Amino acid sequence: MAHASVSPLDNGQVTGGNELPASIPTPPPPNMGPSPPGLEKENIELFGFRMGQTVNSGFLLLSIAMGRETGLFDALANFTEPKTSKEIAEATGLKERYIREWLGAMVTGQIVESNETSTRFLLPPHRAAFLRTGGFGEEMTLLAAALPMQCSVFDKVLNCFKEDGPRGVPYKHYCGFQKFMNACSSAWWNRHLISDFIPSMPEVQEMLEKGIDVLDLGCGSGGASILLAERFPKSTFIAIDISDDAINTAKSTVTEKKLTNVTFLKMDALEMPEEKWQGKFGYVLAWDSIHDMAQPEVVLNLLHKCLSNNGRMTVMEVNAHSEIAQNVNMPFASTFYTNSLMHCMTVSLAFEDGQGFGNMYGRQKLMALLQLTGFNDIQTSVPNMSFNCHFLCSK
Ligand SMILES: C[S@@+](CC[C@H](N)C(=O)[O-])C[C@H]1O[C@@H](n2cnc3c(N)ncnc32)[C@H](O)[C@@H]1O
Repeated sequence: MAHASVSPLDNGQVTGGNELPASIPTPPPPNMGPSPPGLEKENIELFGFRMGQTVNSGFLLLSIAMGRETGLFDALANFTEPKTSKEIAEATGLKERYIREWLGAMVTGQIVESNETSTRFLLPPHRAAFLRTGGFGEEMTLLAAALPMQCSVFDKVLNCFKEDGPRGVPYKHYCGFQKFMNACSSAWWNRHLISDFIPSMPEVQEMLEKGIDVLDLGCGSGGASILLAERFPKSTFIAIDISDDAINTAKSTVTEKKLTNVTFLKMDALEMPEEKWQGKFGYVLAWDSIHDMAQPEVVLNLLHKCLSNNGRMTVMEVNAHSEIAQNVNMPFASTFYTNSLMHCMTVSLAFEDGQGFGNMYGRQKLMALLQLTGFNDIQTSVPNMSFNCHFLCSK
């Protein structure tokens, strides 16, 4: 479906009321170690040193992804004594030769420790607590696992750079994207959605307790709506996504859990039945999804129509500034820009007239877009332990 291109947001300026606070608090950076020395007086040697570290860390990340996917971190986390590669192989059912080579990367990457003869290996408890499934660093190891998925479309994205290349790479080429996204989002939702995120909006919580219609736009595999539907049985949830894959997974979970107050629909946001849904929803949730849409402004206009007069809408997006230069000190900014290049911007551009906002389009552009589409009383905050910024708005 083609739509007129309406993007007055090029300079990311915010006009009128609802202005952003001068600085939105960002989550504290994890301990990344000291900054490279003398960056302000950098010469070719120092830059080369920094590039060397980057390349080495990049390759280590692939082995970290392998450690997660094979279950090797979980297996090592269960050992309290150093083990041989043969013992690790017996415990995991994996090939000893592959484990030994992987251990090479882990030991030299200072993740696993070994004895002097390199015959016994131990994952120290504090690292095990971080790396194991469900561990403290779950979100980070999941991000590591996104790397191989994104490498699989490298040549396709490369082609898109060319003047005569394709506009973008369609979703169908990203095998495993929905599984990855669901795992990433669920890691946060399971910890925070019910316990602190919803309670941070008492008026929304009260409406959900009493019973309202809720729309989850770009719901992925439905983790958020399922948790909410379980917690708020008097409310009714409609969750839509353009991906067959995601909606099929969501539907199986609903059947498994015998939930009757949530419906998953495979639907393009641009095809939302605006007459039928006019003023229907007391709460609308657009979690990490607006930037992936081909036409964010058209979608926000539709959401404005679908929201009830006293309804509230959550838009969650990466907590970035709209100006690249302002994101230099943002933790993981390069990770998000690269994710955007390899996926978010590129899937949006793959649609006819897709605008390709990308996941780093930033707070200023989103604020301007929400104002332009008629939303009011826009409050911004950073949820607990999140890379995202929450825009809570009314009609
Ligand atoms: C980054 S994912 C976020 C998924 C989920 N909300 C989460 O936070 O895990 C963006 C989702 O938007 C969906 N999406 C993209 N364009 C869409 C469209 N036009 N209509 C409906 N869903 C769309 C994608 O299929 C994808 O599941």
